[in-house]
Amino acid sequence: MRGGAYNAAIMTETTLMDSYPATLSTEAAIDAFMTRPYPEVVELMRRLPGDLAILGVAGKMGITLGATAVAASRAAGVERTVYGVSRFSNQAAYDAVAQAGMTPLRCDLLDAAAVAKLPRVPNVIFMAGRKFGTTGGEEQTWAINTLTPARVCDHFTESRIVAFSTGCVYPLVPSDGPGCSESTPAAPVGEYAQSCLGRERIFTYYSKRNGAPVCLLRLNYSLDLRYGVIHDLATRVWQGQPVPLQVPVFNGLWQGDANNLTLLTLEAAETPAAILNLTGPETLSVRETAERLAERLGKPVRFEGAPGPTAYLNDASRLHTRLGRPRVPIGRVIDWTADWVRAGGLSYGKPTHFEVSTGTF
Ligand SMILES: NC(=O)c1ccc[n+]([C@@H]2O[C@H](COP(=O)([O-])OP(=O)(O)OC[C@H]3O[C@@H](n4cnc5c(N)ncnc54)[C@H](OP(=O)(O)O)[C@@H]3O)[C@@H](O)[C@H]2O)c1
Repeated sequence: MRGGAYNAAIMTETTLMDSYPATLSTEAAIDAFMTRPYPEVVELMRRLPGDLAILGVAGKMGITLGATAVAASRAAGVERTVYGVSRFSNQAAYDAVAQAGMTPLRCDLLDAAAVAKLPRVPNVIFMAGRKFGTTGGEEQTWAINTLTPARVCDHFTESRIVAFSTGCVYPLVPSDGPGCSESTPAAPVGEYAQSCLGRERIFTYYSKRNGAPVCLLRLNYSLDLRYGVIHDLATRVWQGQPVPLQVPVFNGLWQGDANNLTLLTLEAAETPAAILNLTGPETLSVRETAERLAERLGKPVRFEGAPGPTAYLNDASRLHTRLGRPRVPIGRVIDWTADWVRAGGLSYGKPTHFEVSTGTF
């Protein structure tokens, strides 16, 4: 959303916003709200055959995604094991996976012998990846982003697989123009984005070779109060740091919507691999989002640099037409995030670096 369009869109959200909590003031409240399944996801979990494994579960999204799948299966009255697979570099994540009702399994997905011991479930969501630390550790990023898909596809030869990718496989495009659609040729900038295209190519290769259905999800910015672009902007405003305008616009969606829509794409997996963009319908202005946050935070906002000409913009209308739009209005996410940051709420300490336009992470 830009200029007047932004404000108009926020205003038309007002009635929608009435149906969402005015604030989310504890982690338990965030998680409870974020992991509420859509009714269609409950229906999907009723008809989906067999168990589900979430690979790379221990990151910023996986535990809430798994908790949503567990809640939907329970609401559907279906007995299903949801495995949460990761190395669990952080023990607290192991405990959180178990508390969310999943069965945690410790596994390094680079280790073929360890992968071979995983239960061969019919449904797999692949979330493992590496972004930050790529500069100077390029080989680690390439290994995690391209070798783990090969290990996984060698083992789960008959499963349907939804694999997370990123909107960064597209080129940066003019910030005042339309976003990239699935038919825009990939042109990744920098080694992280290149390795993500490598990840996609490996899944597509195996999908053709094994005939297994795959859906590649090109996600742009999941939004949680504890991390994400809006969290980053709110933190800068609250701490009196300038807001960079180098990348002047972005796309995003509430993480609860990202999780629900991801689960729905289990039935969008095809052979050869399908591709779907996953984000919200608006182009969000960094300046206007920061100004709204500043108003709510009661702080002045400073900007730095001139607005750059390009950004990562992702047009998810194909997914919206097929599976529906995100439900939580962005205006609500902005207000929740401002309240969270002002109250000193937890930050994962994992900045998105949304302002990077060189592909260097
Ligand atoms: N969040 C976003 O806004 C966003 C935007 C675009 C794309 N994506 C993509 O969506 C996916 C999920 O996002 P996220 O934010 O949850 O990612 P994340 O925080 O980076 O989590 C990925 C997890 O994968 C696990 N992992 C890495 N290497 C592994 C290995 N060799 N074996 C087993 N597990 C491994 C790690 O947990 P352990 O250390 O415990 O193994 C890590 O926490 C990622 O692939 C990401 O690139 C996310």
